[in-house]
Amino acid sequence: PTPTFDAGAQSIDDPNSFWVIADKLRPLNPVDWEPPDLVEVPVAYANQPFLRQEASDAVVAMFAAFTSESGGLQMQSQSAYRSYSTQEGVYAGWVSSLGQAGADLTSARPGYSEHQTGLSIDVSASPGNCTLQQCFADTSQGQWLASEAWRFGFVLRYPNGKSDVTGYEFEPWHMRYVGAELATELHTTGVQTLEEFFGLPAAPDYAG
Ligand code: DAL
Ligand code: ZN
Repeated sequence: PTPTFDAGAQSIDDPNSFWVIADKLRPLNPVDWEPPDLVEVPVAYANQPFLRQEASDAVVAMFAAFTSESGGLQMQSQSAYRSYSTQEGVYAGWVSSLGQAGADLTSARPGYSEHQTGLSIDVSASPGNCTLQQCFADTSQGQWLASEAWRFGFVLRYPNGKSDVTGYEFEPWHMRYVGAELATELHTTGVQTLEEFFGLPAAPDYAG
């Protein structure tokens, strides 16, 4: 961090905090935690999106800025808040199709997903193009998110080449709201993961 940045300003343990860090070594506590202030996000979507109020406001501003700055292109929400029980179904589906080892590279186990915090959103292009695929990084939407999302308080949580730290393959669509102050600091310092920024252990695998 830069000398003026207070990396202890918010909790990384409390699920109510905008800086909470969930990964394979850091389940949400409690594991079935639910955000207190979910709202429906008023943007285009593939599946009706809910997020915490502040994250929702940031998504609205970010999507509008993209459309304005791109000369009229559109993005949409593919998936936003997912409860513990919703994540149970999502994870089980991936285990069915890929087996557990494959599933664990692409989907968090219930209680370990950032989507349960109400602060994460999977973004897709509209019309769809490389939805939830790594080639989304090459679309106008994916490129703009990678370079501009920090201005709206978002970080690309699962960057390319950081699987050994985050535990997940590159997800150019998964944006995590941390607030503008921390997102700006990450952008300025060039630190790519929350684990590295806060000095946490790399989390490639579950403990158990
Ligand atoms: N795809 C991310 C890792 C999740 O399931 O939360
Ligand atoms: Zn996601």
